[in-house]
Amino acid sequence: MTDTLPTTDVLIIGSGAAGLSLALRLPEQVRCTVVSKRELVEGNTLYAQGGISAVLDSSDSLESHVRDTLKAGGGLCQEDVVRTVVKRGPAAIRWLAEQGVAFTQEPPTGDSEFHLTREGGHSHRRVVHAADATGRAVETTLVEQVRQRSNVTILEHHIAVDVTRVRERGREPRCTGAYLLDLQRDRVVAAPARTVVLATGGAAKVYLYTSNPDVATGDGIAMAWRAGCRIVNMEFIQFHPTCLYHPQAKSFLISEAVRGEGGRLLLPDGTRFMPRFDERAELAPRDIVARAIDHEMKRLGTDCVYLDISHKPAAFVEEHFPTIHARCLELGFDMRKEPLPVVPAAHYTCGGVRVDTHGETDIPGLFAIGETAYTGLHGANRMASNSLLECLVYGELALERILQRLDEADDAPRVPAWDESRVTDSDEEVVVSHNWEELRRFMWDYVGIVRSNKRLARARRRVDLLRHEIDEYYGNFRVSNDLLELRNLVEVADLIVQSALRRRESRGLHYNIDFPETDPNQAHPTVLIPDNYVPRSSVD
Ligand code: FAD
Ligand code: SIN
Repeated sequence: MTDTLPTTDVLIIGSGAAGLSLALRLPEQVRCTVVSKRELVEGNTLYAQGGISAVLDSSDSLESHVRDTLKAGGGLCQEDVVRTVVKRGPAAIRWLAEQGVAFTQEPPTGDSEFHLTREGGHSHRRVVHAADATGRAVETTLVEQVRQRSNVTILEHHIAVDVTRVRERGREPRCTGAYLLDLQRDRVVAAPARTVVLATGGAAKVYLYTSNPDVATGDGIAMAWRAGCRIVNMEFIQFHPTCLYHPQAKSFLISEAVRGEGGRLLLPDGTRFMPRFDERAELAPRDIVARAIDHEMKRLGTDCVYLDISHKPAAFVEEHFPTIHARCLELGFDMRKEPLPVVPAAHYTCGGVRVDTHGETDIPGLFAIGETAYTGLHGANRMASNSLLECLVYGELALERILQRLDEADDAPRVPAWDESRVTDSDEEVVVSHNWEELRRFMWDYVGIVRSNKRLARARRRVDLLRHEIDEYYGNFRVSNDLLELRNLVEVADLIVQSALRRRESRGLHYNIDFPETDPNQAHPTVLIPDNYVPRSSVD
């Protein structure tokens, strides 16, 4: 028999900036459960470096932040969403500071109380940060706060398997909870909830080379798709231009703020190349910089390019980039004295679960916030440091609608029993690890920075084969963490390939050599609709 947890009001799956900022905003009488598949701190938020964008200096303006975001987004941002998020930025930063996040102070110029750095696409200094480890400062502070809340139950080492959608008493089907695999006890439990929030982060682990930690397997996107939600713009995967190139530096990012503070990109012979590609040079938006690096690496047959900030005083580098400098020193590079070898890597999932302006998905009672959601903010390319901002603002925007849903929800939502009657223990774990490797490699080779029709068709065939194998495996064997993540990754890979095949142009982060131009007639999002999608009977 399936064990069932006590009913909670709000089940938040994911404990990054999005999930925790929502949990902390819930009133104390609302019972909340936060689920995380590893320790609470683990996730993309912890590794964020550069900072959070917000207009905090009088020489800057909301209009300018809006304009820069729209420009970076390649004509696909939803302008009303951009305006809402940008407008709420300054208050979101103040809220974080009130929670105890120690942002770097001492403005070099201007009248902001915080030091503001600069990143690609931003026409002003508007990135508030905690040295070069902003995510760590944000995540550890939010974790510390949430652990003190008496209305919040924390379930670490629990991975959500799927959310449940149930139709009862002739009402519209709604989300009633989720199945969770308790990784320490190795058993699936039912978690009934009056509302469910997917805050599971991105999916960049679908690529062989990525800046993301292992948890970024697109679980929320895959769960929402299986449950019947529309998924939007999955072709727009952002490749960060500068990850450290070193065999032991798994996923280590060299922040865009290094370029923001004067860092230059160089070829192996020391020549600067970005001015040839864009007048903004190293501070062009990421799609342009990553493609330029990819182009130069292929042209010259080199394994990496170089990022150089050694022309700045050593004390400046130490003060602004203490974490990056320390890690590079451990690996044998002194960025005060020499250029760092860098390569692009998959970094951010611009598309995701379609949500409305309050973070609600196509299924009543099911929300998606943070990197897992598609809100319309980023369009075809996310501007640097707009992601943490979106997490914080949507944590707040979702709150109002969640409280409304709680008034309407059943007191005892029903989660059907988990059926394990036909499965046995796996006898071939090796299948899972080999398929993980294969999937991530062909996604890198065929669906990376530069795509073509032929490469996408190849990827499609391989995804189909893997999918078939994994579905069969899932149907026959008891679930494990690796199997669940692989099942989600292949689902997400399929959504990325399908979306990339539909976009018959190049725009923002999606570049296809067979359609190298932007086509004004295709200035609309790519919307994938699952077979079990049920249109909402009323729109709130
Ligand atoms: P995450 O912080 O990734 O949290 C997701 C959570 O969901 C984790 O707790 C994870 O364990 C959990 N989870 C996932 N699946 C399941 C499941 N099935 N069951 C249970 N739990 C699950 N953005 C900026 O704006 N500024 C920056 O400077 C910046 N720097 C970055 C640097 C790096 C190296 C990286 C990787 C990203 C950076 N980004 C930055 C992007 C930004 O960090 C992320 O987009 C943002 O933190 C996402 O927050 P989130 O809450 O949506 O997800
Ligand atoms: C970085 O510090 O370069 C990452 C910023 C971001 O992804 O927004």
